[in-house]
Amino acid sequence: MLPHKQIELKLQSAVREILPDADVSIVLVRPCPDPKFGDYQSNALMSLAKQRKMNPRQLAENVLAKLDVSDICEKVEIAGAGFLNFRLKPAALALTLEAAARSVHLFFEKTSTPKTAVIDFSSPNVAKPMHVGHIRSTILGDSLARALRLLGHRVVTDNHIGDWGTQFGMLLVGWKRELNSAALATDAIGEMERLYKKISAECKENPAVLEAARQELVKLQAGDAENLKIWREMIALSQKQFDAIYGRLDVKFDVTLGESFYNDKLAPLVDELLKKGIARESEGAIAIFFEDNPQLKAHPALIRKSDGGFNYSTTDLATLAYRLEKWNPDEIIYVTDGRQQLHFQQIFAAFKKWHGESKAKLAHVWFGSILGEDGKPFKTRSGETVKLSDLLNEAEDRAFKIVSEKSSELPDAQRKEIARVVGIGAVKYADLLPNRQSDYVFSWDKMLALQGNTAPYLQYAYARIKSIFRKAESGSREAEIKLAAPEEIVLAKHLLNFGLTLEAMAEEYRPNFLCNYLFELAGKFTSFYENCPVLKAENETTRNSRLALCDLTARVLKQGLDVLGIEVVEQM
Ligand code: ARG
Repeated sequence: MLPHKQIELKLQSAVREILPDADVSIVLVRPCPDPKFGDYQSNALMSLAKQRKMNPRQLAENVLAKLDVSDICEKVEIAGAGFLNFRLKPAALALTLEAAARSVHLFFEKTSTPKTAVIDFSSPNVAKPMHVGHIRSTILGDSLARALRLLGHRVVTDNHIGDWGTQFGMLLVGWKRELNSAALATDAIGEMERLYKKISAECKENPAVLEAARQELVKLQAGDAENLKIWREMIALSQKQFDAIYGRLDVKFDVTLGESFYNDKLAPLVDELLKKGIARESEGAIAIFFEDNPQLKAHPALIRKSDGGFNYSTTDLATLAYRLEKWNPDEIIYVTDGRQQLHFQQIFAAFKKWHGESKAKLAHVWFGSILGEDGKPFKTRSGETVKLSDLLNEAEDRAFKIVSEKSSELPDAQRKEIARVVGIGAVKYADLLPNRQSDYVFSWDKMLALQGNTAPYLQYAYARIKSIFRKAESGSREAEIKLAAPEEIVLAKHLLNFGLTLEAMAEEYRPNFLCNYLFELAGKFTSFYENCPVLKAENETTRNSRLALCDLTARVLKQGLDVLGIEVVEQM
């Protein structure tokens, strides 16, 4: 068991001895914010004392009298208002690293309480190109899925594509009237987008076209064979293009249940909500009101329009019911941009009225926009939204130029492969690094820089360690770890925090925690490498111990980048 877990369990049982009725699940051990005071810290005693109106330092002393962690820690210290600070004994640190070197663990453990999480992410719309807005959902959602899976949770990834709605009326008019088959064959989504734009512009000017679109939609909804066939083709062609992007990004979905999947569930759902008194009629429409909720008081959720049509909310409620029934999840995570906050607040509030007893926790993991270097929404030079496929192509092209300048001696195919890994990695990392709720400025130069907090920097750090091993003839995984230099100790202790970082990322849905952890790891490795000779170490034991530190750093870098969906190459 990892040291922080051992400390945590012992602390929990010591607390139980002093306060038999306390909820010890809140007694946690986390990295100490300032290494001056220790390696790990627990602040739980202060809130326990507060609940009971006890003196927190006195409680801390009583608990310490029952706590024996002397096998792995120096003397435990009480600080401030009642923090407990723990410092690992060097021997315990070395033992943990030796176990990692033998691949017993990689500084994280699978959870003992696995949960089931459904993650709803990416969710592009049929007949429209995926744009940079979808990239954040895809990349964030994928990395959350990877983190939860690595920690041993059961994850269902669901791509809730937009494959139903009024736009199909216009698309059908366009498809029947002026489809360009040659264009459809080369760029299906581009052609469908053209049709949609053309007809929707006409609808604004010409009521006859609007009426034609309405009729095509009614026919589709009524199951007209021809319209259904065209609609299915539009979905299949779009899916093909989505899949090409997912392939490049290495993103996989367990299920793709688009909005249309819930179509026949909408009418019964509205009836059920009416019957249960959760929804009611209002000016001919049906809505859920949230009178008791100050934020949503003025924002009822519309679930049936006065013309009988259903809303985005209706589909989301039906989707929710289906997921509860099908997977019995502990958690459902929705990854979309911040503009959908009100929508999800409504869905979550409706869920409380409707399934108040459910154990499922719903989370809206929202994110800000991607801006151009002018601070305005990121657009192409001609002012159009940037297509994801063009963006990925440009990333690879730019990376290829950089790699070719730096490593002209490598064969063309290898440089191409490096450029692919670096280019895609840079785009993903730039998206994951900022606090997801803030907007970020898209900058090719920044994200592709070999210096700074970027994917290429981390990939390069990995490749550099690999090059040490190409030069080292020996270096065994059974090495005895000897930590003497301060840089070795700092690096070793940082390695130990990998698992805690993964857990924090999964808990708060924030991949930026892991980005920053890896960036710091690379920095600490650099100081170690500059100050502690590895291949020219003074003796064999030190050399092997340092090689083991190099190897562990490389393995954590690789595993951490993998959680971010980013690949590495052995040579750059
Ligand atoms: N298709 C929607 C869009 O492009 C996102 C769907 C998000 N998921 C959901 N369950 N509403 O904005």
